[in-house]
Amino acid sequence: MKKGTQVLTDRKKQTTEVITPPKTATQMLYEHHGVLRGIMERLSRTSRDDIEQRRALTDELYSEVQMHERIEEHIFYPAISDFHPKLDAAWSEHRQMTDQLAALLRADPGGARFEEELRLMRDVLEAHAHLDEELEMFPEVERLMDEAWLVEMGERLQDRLDRLRSSRTLRARHRLERMMLRGPGRLIARTMRRGS
Ligand SMILES: [Fe+2]
Ligand SMILES: [Fe+2]
Repeated sequence: MKKGTQVLTDRKKQTTEVITPPKTATQMLYEHHGVLRGIMERLSRTSRDDIEQRRALTDELYSEVQMHERIEEHIFYPAISDFHPKLDAAWSEHRQMTDQLAALLRADPGGARFEEELRLMRDVLEAHAHLDEELEMFPEVERLMDEAWLVEMGERLQDRLDRLRSSRTLRARHRLERMMLRGPGRLIARTMRRGS
């Protein structure tokens, strides 16, 4: 059971209520790193024949990485910029992740290069998410900020992530970006099919 979770049992009403404590900002971001890792793990278990699945999982990874970078860059990083000195490095590592994600999207899911790009994607993600954020930035934020700040920031981050995930406009934008990255030929073919 999660730390801080309480189980309240009302014997008269014969009901049990499980109260889970709100997530802090660092717990929320750590868990979302887990989502990114989970997608890459599922991708690494696919074979070169699973082209459609590789494409679907890469699409999912694309959206989740973009949303992760967005909530950190728009909410979390500005909130810690006064006391965290290494934010420039974090921003440039986000650009590296975006570039590597583009390389993964461009790679043929049925070819050897896809596996190499996936391996590089894992390296780039872990260098940033694990080494810089989970081992350095997050513990520092937890040390310097109080529980109320951490919980409020966690709610803001989760709320923004939920809203981004349910945004049809963002979904359409990501779809278009992916098609452009995979090649204008694919985009033109799809547009022509829709028009016919
Ligand atoms: Fe980050
Ligand atoms: Fe992160």
